Amino acid sequence: MTATADPVAAPASWRGLPAAQQPDWPDPGHLQAVTDELAGLPPLVFAGECDVLRERLAAVARGEAFVLQGGDCAETFAGATADAVRAKLQTLLQMAVVLTYGASVPIIKIGRMAGQFAKPRSRPDEIRDGIELPAYRGDAINGFEFTAQARTPDPARLLRAYHCSAVTLNLCRAFATGGFADLHQVHAWNQDFVAQSPAGQRYERLAGEIDRALAFMRACGADPEELHAVEFYSSHEALLLDYEQALTRRDSRTGLPYDTSAHFVWVGERTRDLHGAHIEFASGIRNPVGVKVGPDTKPSDVLALINRLNPDREPGRVTLITRMGAGRVREVLPPLIKALIAEGIEIPWVCDPMHGNTFEAPSGHKTRRLHDVLDEVQGFFEVHRSLGTHPGGIHIEFTGDNVTECVGGSHEIAADDLHQRYETACDPRLNRGQALDLAFIVADSYHS
Ligand code: PEP
Ligand code: CO
Repeated sequence: MTATADPVAAPASWRGLPAAQQPDWPDPGHLQAVTDELAGLPPLVFAGECDVLRERLAAVARGEAFVLQGGDCAETFAGATADAVRAKLQTLLQMAVVLTYGASVPIIKIGRMAGQFAKPRSRPDEIRDGIELPAYRGDAINGFEFTAQARTPDPARLLRAYHCSAVTLNLCRAFATGGFADLHQVHAWNQDFVAQSPAGQRYERLAGEIDRALAFMRACGADPEELHAVEFYSSHEALLLDYEQALTRRDSRTGLPYDTSAHFVWVGERTRDLHGAHIEFASGIRNPVGVKVGPDTKPSDVLALINRLNPDREPGRVTLITRMGAGRVREVLPPLIKALIAEGIEIPWVCDPMHGNTFEAPSGHKTRRLHDVLDEVQGFFEVHRSLGTHPGGIHIEFTGDNVTECVGGSHEIAADDLHQRYETACDPRLNRGQALDLAFIVADSYHS
């Protein structure tokens, strides 16, 4: 199927509403020219794929599947290389195999990839040595370098974001189906990880069980297609509404609007104002959508969001991504879940254990402790178990490289090590080993 470009027909009701966190583009004419060009470019994803993902998420809501969503906090143009994308996907696939075994349900694999180029910021400006410049808002908007030229928003970057998304998604699609994602290969990578990990003994039992399960299937002559390829979906925060609007197209089959920049888009904690432009935009597209909810969210807020985004109660349409912080999740999550139980609403609940656990190390680096990340996931599981609901998935920031941005892990990174390879353009990411540590520990707790 195809989706036709028809920017006029795509819902634009958000335009009159307050839109938080939008860049101050110096030249509106340039922005218009760029969005016109984007509106004529091919869609990155197809409506039918978004529909399948919505069905997968409906299965998550019923407790029959689990979401693994992850990738960089902020993708960069320089990071759209075959090596970097491969390493991220490899890590995601390795985590997914471990989690599949732990959870005994299909893992829905969603990258924070192929479009995560725009960031909300706590302050519009940044001051260094008395010089004040616009904050870095992501490669789709301005440059990371602290110069007036780099920090000036440039609409041409939106086109580059589109092309980098296309390249990244193309690599992901090829890796997902072209042999790279073969289960036996992914398992062999996990065995390497276990052999080299200081926590190896702790993970060996699980890796051994997976090994025996695979050997058993091989002995039976079972070799289903599903072992050789995976379904992979793209996602990012729908922050830059001009960009998202330009990629919103009518599905030729049904005439309904889809945001073809990604399979799944979410609205962030800072832009989810019920009466703001972001929620209005999300309500007008047919993709499955997410909303981040933080520790101050009230039960009435989540009910209002669900009523706005999913008045027809379509299964899998809205996912709530909770980011409460390890210290608060056990206290603030239950009232939200209970409010939905009371209304008979089932949704995928996904835990983002990253954004509520950020702090500044003595060295000045923004960081997170793997211990806190694990504790929030554990708390999320405990709360759902006690209420009889399904812990539907995790949403993490990680990279396939051996960066030193978060502290802890079986190859322990101390606060004093952070300067060694601190490369993130925004929030601190788990490195490859820490991401796998997380998967093994979560799988283990799922099991027990
Ligand atoms: C993010 O996901 O990088 C982010 C900004 O999260 P939140 O909206 O939860 O603060
Ligand atoms: Co982040």
